Amino acid sequence: MTEKNEKKEKVDRRQFLGIAWLTAMVALMGESLAALGKFIQPVVDGGFGGIVKAGTLEEFPPGSITLIKEGRFFLSRLDDGSFLALWQRCTHLGCSVPFEEDEDQYHCPCHGSLFDKLGVVTGGPAPRPMDYFPVTIEAGEVFVNTEEALERKAFDPSQTTQS
Ligand code: FES
Repeated sequence: MTEKNEKKEKVDRRQFLGIAWLTAMVALMGESLAALGKFIQPVVDGGFGGIVKAGTLEEFPPGSITLIKEGRFFLSRLDDGSFLALWQRCTHLGCSVPFEEDEDQYHCPCHGSLFDKLGVVTGGPAPRPMDYFPVTIEAGEVFVNTEEALERKAFDPSQTTQS
């Protein structure tokens, strides 16, 4: 092998290693970005901790309170047609609070905290109203973002979403 050919082969080997290294880096970055995308992207129609598709507007008549089990919240449609999503979790020590139809209120079975239909404390040891989740309406479908529960000191219409 001549000196010239030997040099060319070295360059070719160097080029090959460079291309292989670059290809590996691009593949690694692609996989990392895909994994990051899955992590960042909110879960639609998933369960608690993501964006939950509760149903269509027609499924929730004004004055109704519906437990959306997979999202762990109650979806209230108020008499004016607006929506309020209340986390099922008691603000005292975290028990699941059922809505008692016969009492027309939320009644925690653990220590007796009572909440009205808007989630405001009316009795018992709960220190604040039930937390709520943002509601959005798109193309006639109701979505609730359960990524982060919002605390409040009182009910305010700004916590609701107009349909
Ligand atoms: S956990 Fe609900 S009243 Fe204590």
